Amino acid sequence: MSTAKLVLEGKEYEFPVVVGSENEVGIDITSLRAKTGAITLDPGYGNTGSCESAITYIDGERGILRYRGYPIEKIVESGARFIEVAYLLIYGKWPSAEEYASFSKLMTQHSIIHEDMKNFFNHFPPMTHPMAILSAMVASLSGFYPDGDEELNMIRVLAKAKTISAYAYKKSIGEPFVYPKPDLSYPANILHMMFAHPMEDYQVPPVMEEALRMLLILHADHEQNCSTSTVRMVGSSGASLFASISAGVCALWGPLHGGANQEVIQMLERIRDDGGDYKKYVAMAKDKDSDFRLMGFGHRVYKNYDPRARILKEQADKVLELVGVKDPLLDIAKHLEEVALNDDYFIERKLYPNVDFYSGILYKAMGIPTNMFTVMFALGRMPGWIAHWKEMKEDPATRINRPRQIYTGPTEREVPPR
Ligand code: ACO
Repeated sequence: MSTAKLVLEGKEYEFPVVVGSENEVGIDITSLRAKTGAITLDPGYGNTGSCESAITYIDGERGILRYRGYPIEKIVESGARFIEVAYLLIYGKWPSAEEYASFSKLMTQHSIIHEDMKNFFNHFPPMTHPMAILSAMVASLSGFYPDGDEELNMIRVLAKAKTISAYAYKKSIGEPFVYPKPDLSYPANILHMMFAHPMEDYQVPPVMEEALRMLLILHADHEQNCSTSTVRMVGSSGASLFASISAGVCALWGPLHGGANQEVIQMLERIRDDGGDYKKYVAMAKDKDSDFRLMGFGHRVYKNYDPRARILKEQADKVLELVGVKDPLLDIAKHLEEVALNDDYFIERKLYPNVDFYSGILYKAMGIPTNMFTVMFALGRMPGWIAHWKEMKEDPATRINRPRQIYTGPTEREVPPR
């Protein structure tokens, strides 16, 4: 199979076919408009490949997710550190011992933020969502690092994002900022900066560090999702890494994307406060007259159980047991899942729990406040955004992303006399 044929108004055209390393087939229509005058129409881009990419492979039908060819389950099981996975995604290979040492050193050196930046936190109103703060601060990094050293900027944004996030949280509860510690891992540093306090000793609980390591790795990349496509879209105009990632944070914030983890907990709390009648909410989700959706269910790509949700479900049980938390929300979540998975509406539409369904329960067990859930997702996704931005910059096929449209407004008309 090397070409695809299109017949338009009786005329036949041929287009090359591109086959990926996992035999995914794409019809290369870059010459479509020039040859035929027509464009394709694909709202929501469900059938549109925007680039070729060697970073992440997903088979949504079979529930497979691999970073650089390595199955996500195996990466988690291997005990890999989050920053090793970040390195793998960004540079395409596992770091050698020396590469790891120097990457890790750079990450430590760049994890503090400019002291002047701390003032910014004082000027947000108290209820500001931390995703707004994270996005604003990441964009502001361009002001502090105007050198345009993009290699270093990748390290800077990865290292500083966790500090910015923890500071946003500390500001919201009126506690002093805590500096990152050089001897702690990336996930342990996040927890330390969020929960350490000048008046008491804080040791990061190993079970929390491990749960966060796993959560961050599971969120690290997911090919051309809404936020990553945004990063690529913004970066395609030549905008800086900081500007592109700041836009990615905003895209992730939406409730249909990363914001769903916060929505899941709010939904479970609503069900709990309403007497725990989860069947009523399943019925509401099915009712086309209601705009209620089961948050944490369904996915554009997965038409099978999201492999990340499978791992998180097992972990949620383990972590809750280890920290001795009995969370009734977990029971509601399990019931909801069981009812939905056996219901024709969900079966026919292939709606399964996605990564956000169980991540919120884990974050909650770790004492992370609900409005920080999506920030945790953003920290996990940072390596993916960086890797895609880098790949986009290095790809000779990259052009400014500029979709077309089919205009449906009025044809030319007279301006009425003013
Ligand atoms: N609850 C009830 N019905 C649903 C749900 C849901 N969560 N998700 C999809 N459906 C139904 C739709 O109503 C539609 O039904 P219809 O064919 O009768 O009209 C059908 O399933 C297909 O849904 P679409 O909205 O067309 O699917 P799309 O691929 O555009 O959307 C999305 C995917 C946004 C994830 C959607 O499933 C959703 O809104 N889920 C809830 C929010 C959520 O959990 N988002 C997190 C996604 S994972 C992530 O970003 C990390």
